[in-house]
Amino acid sequence: MVKKIAVLAGDGIGPEIIEEALRVLHSVEKKFKCKFELTFGDIGAIAIEKTGNPLPKKTVEICVGSDSVLFGAIGDPKYDNNPNAKIRPEQGLLGIRKELGLFCNIRPVKMFESLIDRSTLKNEIVRNIDFTIFRELTGGIYFGEKKLSGDKNTASDLCIYSKDEIVRISHEAFKAARNRKNKITLVDKANVMESSRLWRRVVKNLHEKKYKDVNLNYLLVDNAAMQMVINPAQFDVILTSNLFGDIISDIGSVVGGSIGLLPSASVGKKSALFEPIHGSYPEGKNKGIANPIAMILSAGLMLRHLKLSGPANSISKAVDLAIQNGKGTPDIFPESNYTTSDVGKYIADNIY
Ligand code: IPM
Ligand code: MN
Repeated sequence: MVKKIAVLAGDGIGPEIIEEALRVLHSVEKKFKCKFELTFGDIGAIAIEKTGNPLPKKTVEICVGSDSVLFGAIGDPKYDNNPNAKIRPEQGLLGIRKELGLFCNIRPVKMFESLIDRSTLKNEIVRNIDFTIFRELTGGIYFGEKKLSGDKNTASDLCIYSKDEIVRISHEAFKAARNRKNKITLVDKANVMESSRLWRRVVKNLHEKKYKDVNLNYLLVDNAAMQMVINPAQFDVILTSNLFGDIISDIGSVVGGSIGLLPSASVGKKSALFEPIHGSYPEGKNKGIANPIAMILSAGLMLRHLKLSGPANSISKAVDLAIQNGKGTPDIFPESNYTTSDVGKYIADNIY
């Protein structure tokens, strides 16, 4: 079975970790009956340098013509430190999410038992962490109208949501909860924001109409951030808006051990994109220290999405084996001298 994959490596450590994910996919091709046809596209700072555009039209076309998109990372400090920059690498990522209609971002957070001592929190608090964040990805304050006054002294970002945008991601979150621990927590700021009150009404309605069997509760985002540190094991499925999801998923990533381990899937009606939740880590570029595991696990999520569950399970097992045996980069094993490609090779060699 041939699957067409668009590969967007992007910036910083993106190309290095993508290389390892492709090494693992290559190994999957050898061990299982499947074939991946790769097409490479530019996005982010590298695309700005080449074409002046963080999301060239050609890249969008490549993605639209593929079964799935594998995405590395984007971002470059050159742009972060210049608030006047009109063109930014991040516009590439936001643009592709919007163009492909990837409204549902799924970020699973799980504790790797053998890394329990690496967590910033006590063992007994993190031991049973296993939750998934459903973050709305194409609406809210990220995409609402942005304004800057003529004198540049006043600025605003509009947080806008429609019922339909909330309903479509809520369906995904409720269905996922049914296959897990049957619990869903809506995270919002309904004591202050009108858009959050709309989220509550819409989710409550949907729950009463279709998902009465799922256990629904609500949490204000400030409290949720605190709960995620005090007792992260209480969560199962977390449903939230674009900005709140961005923030709490970074908290989730560190309580679980390392930000270098967490994959994500961004799914729309027709397309899906898979990327690690960490950024481009420019300080780590070309040093061989980038952890490729989140990227490799993202490729695993992609295979699952493409209904290749055998190979997907095999990737999870090979990653577990690497971690159990201490074959990881220094962010998870400070004494280790395993490089990015050593880890990639170990995982690729253990695909069965
Ligand atoms: C993420 C990132 C992006 C976001 C940035 C790079 C635009 O932080 O995927 O979480 O804010 O969504
Ligand atoms: Mn983020």
